[in-house]
Amino acid sequence: MAKYEKTVADDTATLTIRGESYELPIYGGSVGPDVLDIRALYGNTGMFTFDPGFTSTASCESAITYIDGGKGELLYRGYPIEQLAEKSDFLEVAYLLLNGELPNKEQDAKFKHDITYHTMVHEQLNRFFGGFRRDAHPMAIMCGVVGAMSAFYHDSTDISDPEQRRVASTRLIAKIPTIAAMTYKYSIGQPFVYPRNDLSYAENFLYMTFGVPESEEYKVSKTLADAMDKIFILHADHEQNASTSTVRLAGSSGANPFACIAAGIASLWGPAHGGANEACLNMLSEIGSVDRIPEYIAKAKDKSDPFRLMGFGHRVYKNFDPRAKVLQQAAHDVLAELGVNDPLLDVAQELEKIALEDPYFVEKKLYPNVDFYSGIILKAMGFPTSMFTVLFALARTVGWISQWGEMIVDPTQKIGRPRQLFIGEGARDYTDIENR
Ligand code: CMC
Repeated sequence: MAKYEKTVADDTATLTIRGESYELPIYGGSVGPDVLDIRALYGNTGMFTFDPGFTSTASCESAITYIDGGKGELLYRGYPIEQLAEKSDFLEVAYLLLNGELPNKEQDAKFKHDITYHTMVHEQLNRFFGGFRRDAHPMAIMCGVVGAMSAFYHDSTDISDPEQRRVASTRLIAKIPTIAAMTYKYSIGQPFVYPRNDLSYAENFLYMTFGVPESEEYKVSKTLADAMDKIFILHADHEQNASTSTVRLAGSSGANPFACIAAGIASLWGPAHGGANEACLNMLSEIGSVDRIPEYIAKAKDKSDPFRLMGFGHRVYKNFDPRAKVLQQAAHDVLAELGVNDPLLDVAQELEKIALEDPYFVEKKLYPNVDFYSGIILKAMGFPTSMFTVLFALARTVGWISQWGEMIVDPTQKIGRPRQLFIGEGARDYTDIENR
C-alpha cells in the first residue's frame, strides 16, 4: 500500500473577511501543491467557496495517480507512465493501480488467472443487446449494458463487504472487453465471439472484436496487440478527471460499483473528455489535406467561432501530454506494420507542428493531448470512430474501480454534496393562473 500516511496540518493560512480573521489549516501532499482545508469555512463564516469546474478544488485524498501538468509528468503509484508503457503490461498495471504495488510472480499469475477466468458474460446478457436499435451508438449501449450488470451480478453489490468489492472489481475489469467487443459485433450485425483463455487481455479483446466464429481462424498480430495494450495502459487512470469524479460522486451515496461505472461511462462520452479522440479524427478528416490547416487554425483562434482544435489542450497539462508522446511513436509503428499510408497522419503531424509554433497555442500552453494520436492508431487497426470512446472506457474501468475502492475505505469520505451561489428569485407568493 501507499507509504505516505494521512495528511496533518503543517501550516495555517489566515483568511480575513470583513474585518474578521479565520485560520485555515494547510496540508502538504507527498508531492504536488499543498491544499487549504476549507471544510469548517461555512460553519465558521456562513460563506461558501465558489469554484465552478473545480479548477482550484481538491475533492479527495488519493494515493493512486499523480500528474504534474507543468512538467508533463504522469505517475501511476509513483511509476512514470513512459516506463510502464515500455516495460509493463495492462493487467500488471491494473494490479498496481488497484493494490498500490507491482505484483510479484505469484500475485501476477493469480491476478491474470482471475481476470481471464471471468471474461465470459452471463448468457442472458447477450439477449439484453437485442433491445438496442442496431444503429445505436456503442457508447449508448455501453452505458446501458454496464449499468445492467448490477442486475446480472447482484451478489457482488454489497459495498460494505470487501470480498464482494473485490469480486465486483474483477468482474468489471474482466468483462468490460467482452462487452465492448459485443457492442462492436452488434453494430455490424455479426455474431458475438466468446473469449479465449489462452490469449492475453489485449489479444483476447482484438480476437473477440475482429474474429468471426466458424470461419477462418483470426491470428492476432503481436504489433497490434502490443499497441492495444499500450493504449490501455496510457488510458488506465488520470486522477480526478470528470468521469472519475462522476464515479466517486455516484459512489459517495453508496451506489453499487456497476451503477457507478455506468455513470463514469456516461461522463466520459462527452467530446471535451473521452469523446475527443472520435471528434479529433472527424476533425482531421474534415481538414483533409495539409493546405487547409491554416483555415482551421484561424477558426480555432476566432473567439466568435465555437470550433476548437480537438486533441489539443488539457485542464491539467500545460506542457506535452506524456501519453501523446508515447502514442506518437506507436502510431508510426502500427502504420508501418500494417503498411498503411494514412494521409490523416500527415495532416496530424503538420497540424501539430503549426500549432506548436503559433503564438495563440504557445501563450495558452495548448499542447497535443492523448487523443491526438490514439484515433489514428485505432483507425489503422480497423476500429470505426464510434468505437474509440468505448476503448477509452474499457481501459479507464481499471482507474475508476481503483478510485472507487479507495473512496469506499476512506474514513473521511462523505456523500458528495456541493453548494451553489444562488442567483434566482427569492421567496415570492404563488399567483393564480388568471392573474399571470
Ligand atoms: N482549441 C482552441 N482553443 C482552445 C483549445 C482548443 N483545443 N483548448 C483551450 N482553448 C482556449 C480557450 O478558448 C481558452 O481561451 P481564453 O482564455 O481566451 O478564453 C483557453 O484556451 C483555456 O481554455 P479552457 O476551456 O478555459 O480550458 P479548460 O481547462 O476548461 O479546458 C479542455 C480543457 C480539454 C476541455 C479544452 O482544452 C478543450 O476543449 N480541448 C479540446 C477537446 C479535447 O481534446 N479534449 C481531450 C482532453 S484529454 C482526454 C481526457 O482526459 O479526457
